[in-house]
Amino acid sequence: MLRVKQLSKFFNGFAAVKEVSFQANGGEIFGLLGPNGAGKTTTIRVIATVLTPTSGTAEVASFDILKAPEKVRQNLGLLTSEIGLYDRFTARENLRYFGNLYGLAGQALEDRIDYLVEILDMQKFADRRAGKFSTGMKQKVAIARSIIHDPKVIIFDEPTAGLDVLASQTVIDYMQTARKEGKLVVLSTHDMAHAQKLCDRVAIMHQGKIIAVDSQAKIYQQTQADNLEDAFLKILGADAAKSALKAKEAFELRWLSKKHKRFGL
Ligand SMILES: Nc1ncnc2c1ncn2[C@@H]1O[C@H](COP(=O)(O)OP(=O)(O)O)[C@@H](O)[C@H]1O
Ligand SMILES: [Mg+2]
Repeated sequence: MLRVKQLSKFFNGFAAVKEVSFQANGGEIFGLLGPNGAGKTTTIRVIATVLTPTSGTAEVASFDILKAPEKVRQNLGLLTSEIGLYDRFTARENLRYFGNLYGLAGQALEDRIDYLVEILDMQKFADRRAGKFSTGMKQKVAIARSIIHDPKVIIFDEPTAGLDVLASQTVIDYMQTARKEGKLVVLSTHDMAHAQKLCDRVAIMHQGKIIAVDSQAKIYQQTQADNLEDAFLKILGADAAKSALKAKEAFELRWLSKKHKRFGL
């Protein structure tokens, strides 16, 4: 349902994303993990057609981001930690407004809003203005907003950043509901402990590159770790050891060639 192919994104010569490839399927929560600055948001923004890739491409529900960006947007819901609602509109009015932006209207839209109000348990405040909502209430409306057009792929970028426990739980519950409905949920986060509880498969990013993609079980098997944080450090450690070795070899080569010159060899 999501296929990312050799995707790179440069900003003024700086590679924020370097030849990233992975696939994720319906019915799973796929973790896009890595520390701050790893390139997760940039990858997501390219997938969501907000940014154009420098090279490579991606497909959402079989639609190519470069060839069919509108189809991609129709099949993709994106939730970030910036909530973006109109304070003076009620929850329903907000949803109607964003529904209209996706070309939805009339009874179909009202039915969709009713359904979202129900599954996200918003009955009590759906007709109140959003300005005075708690963060948990706002987050529910934000989730409803991001999936108003019933997309097949839902990407949550750091969805629980800055939320209290209750509001976070709303997001977590919804991710699990969406998985059951057969949607692909991509959870992008730097919080490995959080991802560990929710994700089926994960891609771990570091400095713009993917350093591991697999099920949690396989990652633990390969790294001899029992949690994602440790697995990340171990993979990174192995990588660092490799580059240190390369650096040492390069140094020795330079040193040897100098010696050769010095001795006229
Ligand atoms: N618009 C931009 N211009 C220049 N550099 C950027 C831009 N967006 C992101 N970056 C840089 O790209 C790298 C990856 O950022 P980002 O994708 O936001 O990482 P993450 O979401 O994993 O924290 C960072 O070093 C960031 O500073
Ligand atoms: Mg980010």
